[in-house]
Amino acid sequence: MKLSVFGCGYLGAVHAAAMASLGHDVVGIDPVADKIAMLSAGRTPFFEPGLPEILTASLATGRLRFSTDPAEAADADVHFIGVGTPQRRDGAGADLTYVDQAVADLLPHLKPGALVVGKSTVPVGTAARLAEPIARAGGRLAWNPEFLREGYAVKDTIEPDRLVYGVADASREQDAAILDEVYASAIAARTPRIATDYATAELVKVAANSFLATKISFINAMAEIAEVVGADVTQLADALGHDSRIGRRFLNAGVGFGGGCLPKDIRAFAARAEELGRGESVAFLKQVDEINLRRRQRMVDLVVDSLGGRPHGRRVAVLGLAFKPYSDDVRDSPALDIAVRLHGLGAVVVSHDPEAIPNSRLLHPQLAYATSAEDALEGAEVVVLVTEWNAYRELDPVETAARVARPVILDGRNVLDPVAWRAAGWNYTGMGR
Ligand SMILES: NC(=O)c1ccc[n+]([C@@H]2O[C@H](COP(=O)([O-])OP(=O)(O)OC[C@H]3O[C@@H](n4cnc5c(N)ncnc54)[C@H](O)[C@@H]3O)[C@@H](O)[C@H]2O)c1
Repeated sequence: MKLSVFGCGYLGAVHAAAMASLGHDVVGIDPVADKIAMLSAGRTPFFEPGLPEILTASLATGRLRFSTDPAEAADADVHFIGVGTPQRRDGAGADLTYVDQAVADLLPHLKPGALVVGKSTVPVGTAARLAEPIARAGGRLAWNPEFLREGYAVKDTIEPDRLVYGVADASREQDAAILDEVYASAIAARTPRIATDYATAELVKVAANSFLATKISFINAMAEIAEVVGADVTQLADALGHDSRIGRRFLNAGVGFGGGCLPKDIRAFAARAEELGRGESVAFLKQVDEINLRRRQRMVDLVVDSLGGRPHGRRVAVLGLAFKPYSDDVRDSPALDIAVRLHGLGAVVVSHDPEAIPNSRLLHPQLAYATSAEDALEGAEVVVLVTEWNAYRELDPVETAARVARPVILDGRNVLDPVAWRAAGWNYTGMGR
């Protein structure tokens, strides 16, 4: 099929390359010329495992190209909208400027009968609003929320765990059939597929992220209690997780969630519910957000305490900057936030991350970045592990002890073995253990 993808960021670039790898003819559109030049040359503008391979392979077939010019999308029968929906600068709601602009850019080039497919995460009601101008231009709109996880985005796009289509009543069968054709390989693999209305499709995405955020904040709330009573939240989570109704996943206490989705999505959902007069229904999301942000401050407090209350001029090694491993994304990253707060207290913060240093440096040039974890550790008085990259999980406590000035480690992701680290002479502190 002939497809276009508007927005070539974490979602769109992967979607474009993945759809081309499935045999579709795809053009990716993005106004950022540097990004388009890189992608066209087979280079990825961000770190995503597996993307370089499908990008270069698809470019070589001639089925994938990129452009800054929306007119290049004119030929496509299906247009995906995967542009950003960040938090508004002046409030908690979603900023829909980019979605509106992408639709406005596309409409003059729309073929009669073309299907526009929203993938961005939007406040409920957005699709109904956009359907009208698209219909006037001779097209139709569907909403097909994206559930990919950064770090696994290629696999999640090619083999999603479910497909959700929000389609208009009048063209339900026809539009679902078009999307089935786009996702033919996933459909053949019997991927669960739910065809529904716009509002449900929009809600599925924010409800899923709200649920995951709530699960993380729930266990972090338990960590706060565990810290007071001397319980171990990791064992608590293991014991809870054996209950199949609860499950162990997303019950890892630590410095909390971040990234370009969960934090802004729960805030946007709460703001939208307020507008709908149902603010009380999701009022708990405010607490979910607050619990989450408290964990960052808790880590900062632990560092300061470990330095006897005097962080000024003291060397702190921060391991991790990305909001999670296998990503270079530092949007609303707890790790980067903690490094910045410690720097603000006068500590000499030396950070390391296998992939996220360039993005961190753009936002916070004032921080010191080490080219290796070993360099970051050298002479540190406290080591803070805040992104659970394998390289940090696998650090050898004996070798690491030889590098630092004082063997004090704060495990912000509860991924190290306290017994092994204490046996090597470390003062080990986890979160809620
Ligand atoms: N990143 C994820 O893991 C993920 C997962 C699921 C859903 N989402 C949702 O997908 C959307 C995109 O997220 P992202 O992480 O890819 O953001 P991003 O910031 O990485 O990418 C957005 C891209 O859109 C481009 N853009 C802006 N205006 C445009 C226009 N008029 N035409 C074409 N392109 C335009 C930007 O230049 C940028 O490259 C958001 O709504 C997000 O919530 C993201």
